[in-house]
Amino acid sequence: MGSVVLRWCSNFDVNTQPFERALQRLLQCCAILLRLVKRIRVSLKSSAYEVLLGSESLRIAGAEIARTLGGIPSLCLVVTTARVHKHWGNILERSLRAAGLRFLVIEIKDGESHKNFAAVESLMRDFAKHGADRGSIVIALGGGVVGDVAGFAASIYMRGIPVVQIPTTLLAQVDASVGGKTGVNLAAGKNMVGTFHQPRLVLIDPQVLSTLPAREYRAGLFEVIKCGIIRDAKIFGFMEDHKEQVLNRDPKALIRMITSAVKVKADIVAKDEREGGLRRILNFGHTIGHALEADSIYKRFLHGEAVGWGMVAAAEIGVLTGVTPQKTAQQISALIQTYGPLPQVKSAAQDIVRLIQSDKKTRNGVPHFVLVTKIGRTLIANGVPNVAVKKAVDRLRQLSSERLAVR
Ligand SMILES: NC(=O)c1ccc[n+]([C@@H]2O[C@H](COP(=O)([O-])OP(=O)(O)OC[C@H]3O[C@@H](n4cnc5c(N)ncnc54)[C@H](O)[C@@H]3O)[C@@H](O)[C@H]2O)c1
Ligand SMILES: [Zn+2]
Repeated sequence: MGSVVLRWCSNFDVNTQPFERALQRLLQCCAILLRLVKRIRVSLKSSAYEVLLGSESLRIAGAEIARTLGGIPSLCLVVTTARVHKHWGNILERSLRAAGLRFLVIEIKDGESHKNFAAVESLMRDFAKHGADRGSIVIALGGGVVGDVAGFAASIYMRGIPVVQIPTTLLAQVDASVGGKTGVNLAAGKNMVGTFHQPRLVLIDPQVLSTLPAREYRAGLFEVIKCGIIRDAKIFGFMEDHKEQVLNRDPKALIRMITSAVKVKADIVAKDEREGGLRRILNFGHTIGHALEADSIYKRFLHGEAVGWGMVAAAEIGVLTGVTPQKTAQQISALIQTYGPLPQVKSAAQDIVRLIQSDKKTRNGVPHFVLVTKIGRTLIANGVPNVAVKKAVDRLRQLSSERLAVR
């Protein structure tokens, strides 16, 4: 089996922690009274849930989970990776114990290459082996890979048990953890199999970002910039004006960015839960971004980095098709380069066009592009000529070779 069962906390353990429990209650009250945590509601027709955001939220996770579920689950199945567990497992475990929750920690292998059916099956075997039933819940503690794999397993184990998302990368905090998409990759492509399974609670603690490698952190910033471009001109301006604070992971800047991005996503997902219309604007920069990732066999770029280049290309396509003012495109390109360096684009333009044609979001050979009319406003264009796409990719190659800072 690929996963390792690490820690088991029994009824006996949970009943021996009265002091910790009282401490957690106190922390929970303080966090609420001092407004250390914010609550953002995701109002879906099928279900509504809260995103709890604040620098003490991991410490009060147990109490918040019990409160949200309105009772004590039979077992909490904490899914994580060795790296995340090493840094943050203790705090979560202490809070679960203090809240009287029984839990089991399961580590899955790290990395995109393990986001597959084998990981999901192995997880579910562990769930079954340790007696997880319909009263159990999954807690996904990790980046987007953990969130997607654990969320998928939760959505199909015993035909679906609740999942709580505790994202630990910036990308997962501002994007992957909200919206309910779960899934795994096939050899034929990324995220080819999956479900919509909305979390019961999303708990975001920006403090966990302190251990995130710099490149992973910067990759997440591009998804924040994306939210600014499609829906929130203010956060775009904030990113332009607060480079130092943003790069230094200043706590106030983190809260500002994560709050804005989560609000944008929550608002869009509430209006379009299953990507029938409006939700497509979240794919700004992703049409070319996904093609760049696929063309480099998912090795050259982190997802956020590919989206960074994809947004520069989308702005260029907007200019070429008369949708985006030149000045706006320059602003977008400048902001993305501010948070670089990005890995060099080496793909041939015709290869990118070919990959876009075969993308799972392309229907009847017609790809959709999200283009910007002004910062904060977009439209969906279906008739973008291939020649404009090729020109945009050539522009990325040119920018790549011009900038010494780019790897
Ligand atoms: N479901 C969705 O809506 C959605 C949206 C966007 C992306 N995704 C998916 O998310 C995945 C990418 O997620 P990601 O960028 O978070 O990558 P990831 O999950 O692979 O995490 C990146 C690395 O950071 C490590 N890590 C995580 N948190 C850490 C921390 N606090 N300190 C130190 N190390 C830490 C991980 O162990 C891993 O090695 C992709 O599979 C993508 O398809 C899903
Ligand atoms: Zn993305």
